[in-house]
This record gives sequence, structure tokens and C-alpha cells, in this order.
Amino acid sequence: MLSRVLVRVSSCTLFGLLVLTAVAAAQRPLIPLPVRVVMQPAAFHLDASTPIFIEGDSALPRASADFLAAMIARVSSFTPSIKAHEGGAPPRGSILLSLNRSGEAASPEGYMMRISPGSVIVRASTEAGLFYGLQTLRQLLPPRFESTAGRDTVRSWDLPCCMIQDAPRFPWRGLLLDCCRHFMDVEFVKRTIDLIAQLKMNRLHWHLTEDQGWRIQIHKYPRLTDVGAWRTEADGSRYGGFYTQEQIREVVAYAAERHVTVVPEIEMPGHSLAALAAYPELSCTGGPFNVANSWGVFKDIYCAGNEDTFRFLEDVLDEVMALFPSEYIHIGGDEAPKYRWEHCDRCQARMAAENLTDEHALQSWFITRIGRYLEKHGRKLIGWDEILEGGLAEHSTVQSWRGMQGAETAARTGHDAIVSPTSHAYFDYPVSSIDLEKVYAFDPVPAGLTTTDAAHILGGECNMWTERAPQHLVESKLYPRILAMAEALWTAGWQRRYDDFHRRVQAIYPRLDTLGVTYGFEAPPVRFALQRDSAAGAIDVAMKAGQPGLQIRYIPDAGPARRYQSPVPLRGQGELRAFAEASSGRSGAPLRSDTLSLRYDLHRGMDAMVTLGQKFSDSYTAGGPAGLIDGIRGSENLHDGHWQGYEAKDVTVTLDLGREQTVTELAAGFLQYQPAWIFMPRRVTFSISPDGITFTEIATIENSASDRVEAPFTRDFSTAFRAQTVRFVRLTAESIGTCPPWHPGAGGKAWLFIDEFIVH
Ligand code: ACM
Ligand code: ZN
Repeated sequence: MLSRVLVRVSSCTLFGLLVLTAVAAAQRPLIPLPVRVVMQPAAFHLDASTPIFIEGDSALPRASADFLAAMIARVSSFTPSIKAHEGGAPPRGSILLSLNRSGEAASPEGYMMRISPGSVIVRASTEAGLFYGLQTLRQLLPPRFESTAGRDTVRSWDLPCCMIQDAPRFPWRGLLLDCCRHFMDVEFVKRTIDLIAQLKMNRLHWHLTEDQGWRIQIHKYPRLTDVGAWRTEADGSRYGGFYTQEQIREVVAYAAERHVTVVPEIEMPGHSLAALAAYPELSCTGGPFNVANSWGVFKDIYCAGNEDTFRFLEDVLDEVMALFPSEYIHIGGDEAPKYRWEHCDRCQARMAAENLTDEHALQSWFITRIGRYLEKHGRKLIGWDEILEGGLAEHSTVQSWRGMQGAETAARTGHDAIVSPTSHAYFDYPVSSIDLEKVYAFDPVPAGLTTTDAAHILGGECNMWTERAPQHLVESKLYPRILAMAEALWTAGWQRRYDDFHRRVQAIYPRLDTLGVTYGFEAPPVRFALQRDSAAGAIDVAMKAGQPGLQIRYIPDAGPARRYQSPVPLRGQGELRAFAEASSGRSGAPLRSDTLSLRYDLHRGMDAMVTLGQKFSDSYTAGGPAGLIDGIRGSENLHDGHWQGYEAKDVTVTLDLGREQTVTELAAGFLQYQPAWIFMPRRVTFSISPDGITFTEIATIENSASDRVEAPFTRDFSTAFRAQTVRFVRLTAESIGTCPPWHPGAGGKAWLFIDEFIVH
């Protein structure tokens, strides 16, 4: 939830000597790491006299040769010639691209490359394999090679000699790009395809329809884009855009040239408010609706009892299938509240007619019907892991996002799966939740699967949802984490070592600079490490930079910013703020981070024994019970690690202060963020006890905050009283239970988020 606006260092390195030195070669900044690399202390000299030879057993790899020639021509004073090779060893001083379709390469996307002083040979059994060989070759050239500054006077490069054998671990290596919450222009989508292809990623999962915007032109239903592509923002401005069919063909062709398959996602039955704004008769209530201008999950979805819904969806899919040659079509299927279906006569009649026991079975029936339609047209259905609920349709592929369980269940029941769990693959989450190292630790195969079941794991994706990422921020969220994802999907787990990868990331930054990638941080630029000093009544805060090349500055409760040198003691109440700056002006680090803040309140309860009446969610633990009394307050960021979350449960917290103490105030903090289904408690009751058995209520505080506010906010429920001598204190926070009827998640489980039970 933390937005990181990055101000960047401009790169002004001088490239006087365009020769890759032995030292640079030894760094081998290859990402993803190939299966086998043997470097040799010699070089191949590439210059205007270097021809590209091509050979093939059935067709010449013309496209690869053109790609390589264009790449060289872009930054040099020459364009290499391309010639057919008649077999045998390549002529001295040449580059040979060899396509042998009957080659024994184990993987269709694999390649073999040998660079020796006399020649460069790249062999593969497919054009994709050759393309990946060339991406590796590209990373062995200096970053200057990526310049788009135009042709210049560069006349030669040295390529380090090596032998590389390579093939991917997984066939599905994807990026989900959500162009609905924020619209991305065609040039940006193409650039993104270019960038992921360099990392040997081969799927663009293009999220094209949403509550907040319908982005694909459908000739038969012009209102989808006339109406559905535009929303009125809270400030009255109009926001939107869509891709014409011609633009979509252009993107699909551009991607195909880079061996990227574009997989369209057309969401159903939920996340469809933009379509319903255009055609309200496809809903259960008939509308009217507006294209959503806030984030969340909305209860108005396609009516499953109306035949027109299926006519519409099939017509839409006909046009989608004509545009996208992808074998797979993603139909969403996630986060479809069942509230409208429960209250719709037509949906209920459908359930009766089809003998369906509940609305989950109705969703399963819906998805199965669409899956059959796709199958009839030679395509396969992918859906988010909710499509498992109520029974998984035959031949469908599951994309696991709520953890790994969806993938595990799919694989165990003989279905294919794509893995993109919120824990590792959600790049809309801030680096404070998912940092570079965490992504690198991602293993797409759920633990405990047999080898046979594991073969159903096609691979994974990183998901770039864009609620908080308009186009200009997307790269700062994708990079550098996508480097880790690319390697997790290409390179075998046993080959991967984070320290080695991290070194290669540092070495690849200058290349990203030349490519103009506006990357973000690897980790929170400032990490706080807290040490309790009970004797001094303080918390000592040590601060550590999240990556090399950063200097930390902090702003105490009062006074100007200071350079961080040693732990800062906190006492009483207040807020400590800190930010990081590039210490050396080197490229590879943003100039200055956002300011991070730590709110603190040192209180009497901090040494207590904590007893919880209920178990908190595994996703929002606050680090365990003691996180509720650590003196550090939860912020408006629900992912900050300080919040303890409870789903549709009351919360009881009892503190044993260890001995009788004089207490004058009790308070507890809560978070509300209703688009994420997090609400204030209905009321909070405080009680005290001398023995931990008999408690006396001292106050009940009713919630007075509106549940409609869309922005996240925190609120303290507190009570001050005449001094009491007590040993035990308790709070009970009453959950509202379910989301209120007006809410998009009406009837769904509401969350309660608590942090810090404060005793003064
Ligand atoms: C999802 O994040 N709702 C798939
Ligand atoms: Zn209905």
C-alpha cells in the first residue's frame, strides 16, 4: 500500500573503452542463470567484418539473424551481413545461428552457445531457443549495447569466450499486467514485452476487463468501450482508455516476434462492473451501474440465470479468440460474491433446474459451461483458484493465488496449475511485504507433491495489479523483483544461491539504467531493528539500509534530519521518521526513498504476559501475541507487520502485568480499510482484575467512526479513569462479523485489525 515515488539518479558514465574486460566477464551478470556456464579467459572480436551465418534443417533461422543484426546495427556504425551456411565449421570470425529441429535438445526452449576466439555458435531446436541464446549473448555484451541513443561510432566489441548449455525449468514464465485499474498505452505494453523477453519470460497475462474499466474493443458490443472503458473519478475527472482490435493484433504480433504468448483475461462472473455499466440487463438486478471508481470487490456480477449472459460472453469470447492465438484463455473466476445470486429468482431457478446445491456449485456450473465453449473452439480455460470451489471443470487449468493450496489440489487431481501466490508473486505489494530475497526464494512447486503431480505445475507468474500503480510507477514495482522471478521460473532450485544472484543484480543495474528502466528498491530502504532497554525505559532503534549504496537519515520527534550512525533511543510517545539517500551518486540506486515512519508509545503493558482468547489469522500475525504490546503502533499500511488480523471474530486480549501496578488509562488501536473488508470493532470493552479470575468492567467504548470512509485510517478506543491498582487488564473488541449490506462484500466475513493494547 506504500507508494514509492522514486527520483532517479541520471547515469553519466563515460564509455571510453568498449571492451568487456576479464573482470566484467567473470561477474557474468546473466539473469536468469543458465544451467551450465564455463567461462574461458579469451575473447571473440566482433566488428564490421563479422558476418552472421544461418543454417537450418528445414528452414533458415532468418528471424533470429535479423534480430541479432538489428541489435548490433542499433548501436554500431555497421550492420552485419546475413548469409546461409552450407554446413561444417563456421568460417573464422563469424557468428553461426543453427536451427536443428530434429536436434536432441531436451527442452524446446533450450540452446547451446560456444564463444571461442574464432567464432560464436548458437544452436537450438526452435526459434525460441535461438532467441534465448541471443538474449544471453546480449547480456555478455556491455550495457552500452542497450542504448537507444542512435547509431554512433562504436566499431567493435569483445565477447568473453564461454560454453553455455541452457534450458528452462518451467514452460510457463509469466507476467500479469493489469491494464484496467490503470490504463497502459500500447508503446508501454510493447516495451514491457521487450523487457520480459530479455529475461526469457514467455507469457504476458493481459488483464483486460475489470470493475474499473473494460479495455478491449468488441465490435458486437460497442458500449463495452463507449461506456465501460471510462470512469468518473471522485474529483469528477474522466479516466480510461481501451485497445482497438488493430492495436491488440499489433501487440500480439510484437510479442510473438519475441516468443511471448499473450494470454488475455476476460473476467467472469465477478469483477465485471464495467461491462454491467454498459449492459446492465446482464446483471441480477438490472442496474443501473457506474464503472467503479474505487478499489475492492463488488457484489454486482453477471446473472447466471440469464441465457443472455452466456450469449454475450460467447460472442465476446469469439472476438477474443479471433484476436489471440493463445491456446489458453483466462476467464478470471476470482472474488465473485454470491450475494446477488442468493437473492435472484433467475439464478435460484437455474440452481433448481441444474440440481445445484449452492451458489458455489452455480459458479462451478458457470465456469464449466464457459470451459466447454472454449474447448469446442480448441482452447483451454484458465481460472483463479476460486474455480476449485464447487468442483473443478474438466480440462481447466488453475492459477493459484491464495497461497499454494490451489496448485496443490489441482495437481493432485490431475489438473495443470500456474502458481502466483500473494506471498511471493504480488508485485503490487510493497517491498516491505515482498522483497527481492523473498521473491528469489519462490519455488513454484508445492512441497510434498510427487514427481508425477509436480509435472502439472506449468510454472508461475508475477502479478502486477495496478490499483496503486499508474503506468509511470509500474517499473518501480516490477524491478528489480522481476529479475528474481525470472530466475525462479527458469533456473533449477539447486542452482540458485541468493548471494550469487544478488551480486549479479548489482552488475545488471547499469544495463537497466541504459534501458531506461525506472527500477525501485530491493527491500525497504530503511529497516528498523528494535531492542528493548527495560532498565532505561527505552526502545533502541537500529537502522539498516535495505541495499548497498544507501545512506540513512532520520528525523527525531523534534529537530532537523540527522545522518544515522548508531541506535536511536525512543522514550515516551512520538514518531520517528527516516529515509535513505544514494550515498555515492552511483547509478543503480534511486536518489531518495519515501520517508518511513515509526509511531511509538512506551507503556506499562510492554512487559506483560499476553493471553489471546482467539487465534489470529496466519496472514496478519503482528509477529505473535507480544506484537500487541511492543510499544510500536500499526500504521495505515495493513501490511506493515504490526497489525494482528481476525476474520469475523471478536478479539479478547488479557495482560498479566506481573505485579500490582497503578493504572490510569487503557487504550487499543484499530485499523479500518473497508475496501479491503477491514472494519472498526462495533465496540471495545475494558476490564480489570486483581487475580485474573474475576474481572470488573470499567468502560465500553462504542465505535463512532463511519464505515463508509474509503481511505485507510487508524483509531484508538481509550478510557481514562481515577488511579486503580491492578494486576490484570483485559479488552474485548466486538467484530461487526460480516460486511454490511451496502458494502460490495455484503455478507462476506469482515476483518478486525488490532495493534497495541496500551496501558498507562
Ligand atoms: C486476485 O488477486 N484476485 C486473483
Ligand atoms: Zn441472477
